Amino acid sequence: MAEVQGLGHSRKRVEDARFLRGQGNYIDDFKLPGMLHLDIVRSPYAHAKIKAIHTEKAMATPGVLAVIDGPTLQKYNVHNMPTLMSDTQMVLPIDTVKYQYQEVAAVLGTDRYTAADGVAAVEVDYEPLPVVVDPFKALEPGATKVRDDKESNHIWHWEWGDKEKTNQDFENAEVTVKENIYIPRIHVASIETCGCVAKWDATNTHLTLWMTTQAPHAIRTVVALITGHLGLSEERIRIISPDIGGGFGGKVPAYPGYVIAVAASIVTGAPVKWIENRTENLAADSFGRDYHITAELAGKKDGTLTSLRFKTIADHGYTDAAAQPSKFPAGMFHICTGSYDFKSAFVEVDGVYTNKPPGGIAYRCSFRVTEAVHAIERMTDVFAQKIGMDAAEIRMKNFIKPEQFPYKSALGWEYDSGDYPAALRKAMDMIGYENLRKEQAEKRERGEFMGIGISSFTEIVGAGPSKHFDILGLKMFGSCEIRVHPTGKAIARFGTKSQGQGHETTYAQIIAEELGIPAEHIKVEEGDTDTAPYGLGTYASRSTPVDGAAAAMASRKIRAKAKQIAAHLLEANEEDLEWETGRFFVKGSPDQGKTIQEIAFAAYTNHPQGMEGGLEAVNYYDPPNLTYPFGSYICVVDIDRGTGEVKIRRFVAVDDCGVRINPMIVEGQIHGGLTMGFAPAMMEEITYDENGNIHGSNFMDYLLPTAVESPKWELGETVTPSPHHPIGAKGVGESATVGAPAAIANAVVDALWHLGVRNIDIPLTPRKIWEVLHKHGATLEE
Ligand code: CDP
Repeated sequence: MAEVQGLGHSRKRVEDARFLRGQGNYIDDFKLPGMLHLDIVRSPYAHAKIKAIHTEKAMATPGVLAVIDGPTLQKYNVHNMPTLMSDTQMVLPIDTVKYQYQEVAAVLGTDRYTAADGVAAVEVDYEPLPVVVDPFKALEPGATKVRDDKESNHIWHWEWGDKEKTNQDFENAEVTVKENIYIPRIHVASIETCGCVAKWDATNTHLTLWMTTQAPHAIRTVVALITGHLGLSEERIRIISPDIGGGFGGKVPAYPGYVIAVAASIVTGAPVKWIENRTENLAADSFGRDYHITAELAGKKDGTLTSLRFKTIADHGYTDAAAQPSKFPAGMFHICTGSYDFKSAFVEVDGVYTNKPPGGIAYRCSFRVTEAVHAIERMTDVFAQKIGMDAAEIRMKNFIKPEQFPYKSALGWEYDSGDYPAALRKAMDMIGYENLRKEQAEKRERGEFMGIGISSFTEIVGAGPSKHFDILGLKMFGSCEIRVHPTGKAIARFGTKSQGQGHETTYAQIIAEELGIPAEHIKVEEGDTDTAPYGLGTYASRSTPVDGAAAAMASRKIRAKAKQIAAHLLEANEEDLEWETGRFFVKGSPDQGKTIQEIAFAAYTNHPQGMEGGLEAVNYYDPPNLTYPFGSYICVVDIDRGTGEVKIRRFVAVDDCGVRINPMIVEGQIHGGLTMGFAPAMMEEITYDENGNIHGSNFMDYLLPTAVESPKWELGETVTPSPHHPIGAKGVGESATVGAPAAIANAVVDALWHLGVRNIDIPLTPRKIWEVLHKHGATLEE
C-alpha cells in the first residue's frame, strides 16, 4: 500500500515529471489545424492622436489576411473593456493613444512571421500630444489631461482610520519622524509572457479560449458580460488555463490581446493565436507598485510607537486596471501598521492617471501589502535611529504580544495568530546578531561600512471573507470538488490555478491527510471552467488559505458519508466508530474496521438503502477571516566605498506560515520569493523619460537577478497555526517577496546612518549608493 503522505511530508512535486522533461503544456505549445496568428501594431508615442492608419501595404504582404483596428471593433461595441476596478480600458483605440507601446491595430497572418511582417508594413499617422508621466505634476492645475472622459487626472481618494485621534496623537508625541519613500514601478517579468488561442465554433456557437490566466472563471464571467450582446453567453464559453510559466499577479487582468484574438476568431471562423514578445510584455502590461508614500510615525523617547500616518500617491497609468478587491482601491495597504501595537493610525491614498501603461497589479503581493510592509519596516528603523535605539530592540518593544491574539489593529484588521518575538529571536540567534553589532562598531571605527537590516513583517493573505471581498461583485470564496472512485482513488478539482506553486502536489496532501487515501492516488485538476467548480483563481497567496480549506472541508463531508457506509458494513452504530488515518473501526475492537478503499467500493456496490450512491462532495469555502503569516528577516551588507556596490554577506529568513503542508515546497516558495524581493531592492525598476519613453523594455535594461547575483538564503521557521483554518495553514507564496526588500534597504541605511543618511529608495544600485557616499564625502578617495 502506498504511503499516505499527508501534511508535513516533503513529497516531490508531481508536476516536475513533465516540467523537467520539457513536456509541460504551455500556451505557445498549442497548435490547432488552420490556426491563424495575431500580432499587434503598437504606438511609439506616449500620447498622440491617430490621424490615419494605412493598411494597404500590410494587406499586400503575402499571408496577411486582415488588419483590425479600433473602429472595426467599435461596430461590435468591443473596442473598450471594463477593468477589474470598473474603469475603462481600450482594446484598440478609436483616435488617441495614451501610452507608449499601446495597442493600435492588429494584424492576422497565416503564421507568426507573416503577421509580424504585416505589423511592420502598417503605417500610422500620429499627431503627438503633451505627455504627463509624473503623478505629482498630473495633479497640478492645468496639467495635461490623460483621459478625455474624466474631469481630471485624479482617479479616487481613499482614506482609512481615525484621522482626528491620529492627528491628536501626533501633536502630543515626544518624537515624530517623516520620510518620503518611493516604491518604484516594477514588472513581474515572468519567463512566459501572456498569450492565448481563441477558437470560435460557429456551428455550436461556442468559444474555447486557452489562455495564460490565473483566474479562469472570473475571466469567463467577464467575457460573458462584455460579449453577451453578441450572443456569447456564459455556458458557451470555456476558458482553459494550461500550464503557466509564472504569473505573480500579472496574469490576473484581461489584456487587449485576448479580446482581439477572440474577435478575430469570431470574424474569421479560424482558431487565432496571440503571444506577446518580451518587449511587449515588459512595456505594456503586468506592472506593480509605483507608490509614492509620505510616511510618518509618532512615539515616545523610550521607543514606544504610538501613531502612524501615511499619505500616498498611487500612479495607475492611463487606466485603473489594478486587480484589487472592489471595496479597497488601495488593496490591503492598511495592513501598514505591520507587526506593531499602534494606538492610532490613518492612511490616505490618491489614485492618479498618467501617460503610462496601466499598473497596480498585485505583484506577488496581497494587494499592496509589499508597499505597506516596506514603508512601516523602513520607518521603524528611521524612528529607532532618531532616538538611538537598536533596530531589534525597538521591534521587540512594540510587537503585538503573543497573548494579544486575536488582535484588532488600529486600522481594523483582525490578526488571527502570531508570535513575533519568537521569530525575531530565532533569526537573531541564527545570524549571531549581537556579535555582528560588535563587528559593525569595530568596522565603523576603521572606516568600513557594514550594515545590519531587520524586517519583521506581517502579511495578510487569503482573500477573502465574502463580507468584505469581491472582484467586480464576485465573492472571493474558494472551491473544491472531490470524487472518490470505486477503487478508492480520487480526482479533486479546484477554482484556483497554479503557476508553478505545486498545487497538484500539495492539495493532494491535504485530502490524503483527511481521508487517508495516498496522495499519489489523488489526481488534482485546475484551470478548466467546464470541469472545475467556480472559483476566483490564484493570486495574493490565497490558494492555501481559501481553496486549501475547501479541500479539507470537502474531504470532511466525504468522511462523514464514509462513516455511515462503514457503520452499515460493520453493522455497528455510527457513534461507536472511531477514525484513524484511512480507516474506521469499532471502538474497543480495532480489528473490526473498514478502510477508506473498502468503503469507497461499497459506495458503488453495497451502500445502505435510502442513501445516495457514490462518494463525492463539493465545498465552497467562505473563510471567516484572512490568515496572517509573518516572519523576521535579517540581512548583513558590506558597502564598497570605491564603487558603491552593496554586497549581501548573509540573509537569514525565519518564516511562519502556520502548519506547513509540504516543507520542501514551502522552502522553494521562500527561496523564489526572497530572490524576487532581492530583485527590486537591488536592480529592478521601470522608469520613463519626460516624453513617456520607457527605459527597461528588455532584459538588457531591466535587470533580473540570476543565481550568480542572488545571495545564499538561510532559512528558519516557527509554526503558529491559524486558529480558524481547518488545517491551521496560512499562505506563504508571497511572504518573502513582501518581507525581503525592507531588510536589504534597512541594512544599507544602517551602514550609512552615521553619515546622516535616513532613507534611500530602492533599487540600491551601485550608482545610487556611490552618489549618496559622494554627497556625504565618504567615497574611498574622499
Ligand atoms: O496562492 P498560492 O498558491 O500562490 O500561494 P500559497 O497558498 O501560499 O501556496 C504556495 C504553495 O505552498 C502551494 O503549493 C501550497 O500548498 C504550499 N504551502 C504549504 O505547503 N504550506 C503552507 N502552510 C502554505 C503553502
